[in-house]
Amino acid sequence: MSLESFIAALDAFSREAAAAFASAENEESLEAARVKYLGARSGQLKDLQKGLGQIAPADRPAAGKRFNELKVGIEEALRQATARLKQGSAAGPRAQHFDPTIPGTRRRIGCLHPLTQTIAELKDIMGRLGFTAADGPEVEDERHNFEALNIPPEHPARDALDNFYLAAAETTAGAASPGAKARLLRSQTSTVQIRVMEQTTPPIRIISCGRVYRPDTADATHYPMFHQIEGLLIDRHVTMADLKSVLRLFARSFFADDVHIRFRPSFFPFTEPSVEVDMSWRDGWIEMGGAGMVDPNVLQAVGYDPEEYSGFAFGLGIERVCARRHGVTDIREFFKNDVRFLRQFG
Ligand code: DAH
Repeated sequence: MSLESFIAALDAFSREAAAAFASAENEESLEAARVKYLGARSGQLKDLQKGLGQIAPADRPAAGKRFNELKVGIEEALRQATARLKQGSAAGPRAQHFDPTIPGTRRRIGCLHPLTQTIAELKDIMGRLGFTAADGPEVEDERHNFEALNIPPEHPARDALDNFYLAAAETTAGAASPGAKARLLRSQTSTVQIRVMEQTTPPIRIISCGRVYRPDTADATHYPMFHQIEGLLIDRHVTMADLKSVLRLFARSFFADDVHIRFRPSFFPFTEPSVEVDMSWRDGWIEMGGAGMVDPNVLQAVGYDPEEYSGFAFGLGIERVCARRHGVTDIREFFKNDVRFLRQFG
């Protein structure tokens, strides 16, 4: 083979191989081109190298030099093509190497408010003790919020400054003959006791969880709106011992065994005797609410015979129960809607 035709063959090879590398669209086609042109066993470069042996000895150094130049040039073309494809795939490595076994990134979907969770749990625990959930309106009349609960018109609990009377309503507090016209945001869930008793014949075992409203200044343990759980049991021969054991069972299931509960003598118009219920809190006690034996006047107000039926009632603050459970020291946290606080209950 003459030197000229050898060089021509080298040039043709170089153009063709460089074009093939440059136009390869993916790693597979580039590899196919590499094998075709530069493959160690049957690549075309190998054939050209063999051609070197047929060149006249005098021309061989020149031919060898051209061959080496070509080899360096074409290998560089291959490197560039490889780099080009790598760069392209770096933009979307996931699309190219999708691994279905890698766990996905979960979206945060939020969680129930701690008070909502507490209410659900209270209903569940009391449900297991045989108490069904009842409801009543948040806008109440004076009969259900006061009168039937043995809170007479002159009682300070009915003071306009201690309740959210609705603007249009005329309060009968202090009036000689109380009417039922005035409306207010209920100040206690004890209203539901009356509503249930008015419509049911004993035995009764209900709880009611809901919002109540009082014009209190907000501090670590008070808020103008908060939640109560009310309990009512009416039957024949109900005693204070039943009240104690139900509240104790409730406290133990909700807080686990480490909690102690304590009753202190107290006064509520709708119970006789009345107690205040405390639960152990760190080194001391925290007041959870009130309880007692339903006052005969209340039973009479709903048409029950106090000689036949007796019962107990209790009302606890849900914020306090929830705060005690989770170690929250300021109940205002429950109403700030700060997700950093709320997320801890997810
Ligand atoms: N209603 C009372 C309050 O809001 C709490 C309460 C005390 C409820 C004694 C009761 C009870 O049912 O028997 O302060």
